[in-house]
Amino acid sequence: MIIKSVIRKYEESDKEAIQEICYLTGYMGESAKNFWRHKQSFVEIWMSYYIDQEPNNIIVATMDDKVVGYLTGCLSTSTGPEMEKIMYAKIVKYGLFFRLGTADFLFRAMKDDWKHKQSAKGGFIDERWPAHLHINLLPSARGTGLAAILIDNWLTRLKKFNSSGCHLSTISQNTQAIKFFKKMGFRKHGEPLVISGMRGWNGENLQQQIMVLDINSTK
Ligand SMILES: CC(C)(COP(=O)(O)OP(=O)(O)OC[C@H]1O[C@@H](n2cnc3c(N)ncnc32)[C@H](O)[C@@H]1OP(=O)(O)O)[C@@H](O)C(=O)NCCC(=O)NCCS
Repeated sequence: MIIKSVIRKYEESDKEAIQEICYLTGYMGESAKNFWRHKQSFVEIWMSYYIDQEPNNIIVATMDDKVVGYLTGCLSTSTGPEMEKIMYAKIVKYGLFFRLGTADFLFRAMKDDWKHKQSAKGGFIDERWPAHLHINLLPSARGTGLAAILIDNWLTRLKKFNSSGCHLSTISQNTQAIKFFKKMGFRKHGEPLVISGMRGWNGENLQQQIMVLDINSTK
């Protein structure tokens, strides 16, 4: 059976599909439901900025006309999404400290913040790598080469805008993602930092790993 795969610009009609993918893959490739049982606030925290402010920097991947993955990007993180502000706004909007599916996470995060002097915070701002990206594919689209084409498209766009580099934030324990990003030319930058509130499958703390890529190192 031949599957028609396409990489294209985001269209408004893709909104629901990419939000769904964001939630379905938001926990190291598995559903974000594993730690955050309020879908609407989750997708608003992670997607609204890109959909509302930088829709031109979203690229989607389709298989047989169905959206199966996306890359959301930002050209300049210093003027991009203020994650902590966005998070607080959604906590207030949805009363997340009072909901069963999110309160446990938020209280655990407060405890972690208190316990770990250094934990992962908001955006990573460094003018050597001003741009950033997030990439998420449904399981059916992984191992197909589509992820690499999404990254190539994004790097081409960064070259067009004379960007010096790009960074991303991933989870140290997300080994498939780290391996993939290394293959795409990213390298680890800085030490991993605890992500407050987050836990792995066995209850262990999870760490954030920043990875960077210099545009002039790419072909
Ligand atoms: C991270 C992610 C984008 C990587 O994409 P991917 O398609 O899984 O990554 P790869 O291209 O490395 O493919 C995985 C395997 O399929 C193989 N593969 C890649 N392209 C292929 C193709 N065209 N045909 C057959 N196999 C292929 C690769 O060789 C790789 O195997 P390996 O690990 O033994 O080298 C994807 O796994 C994903 O969306 N994960 C969930 C969300 C996530 O974690 N995002 C990152 C958070 S920062």
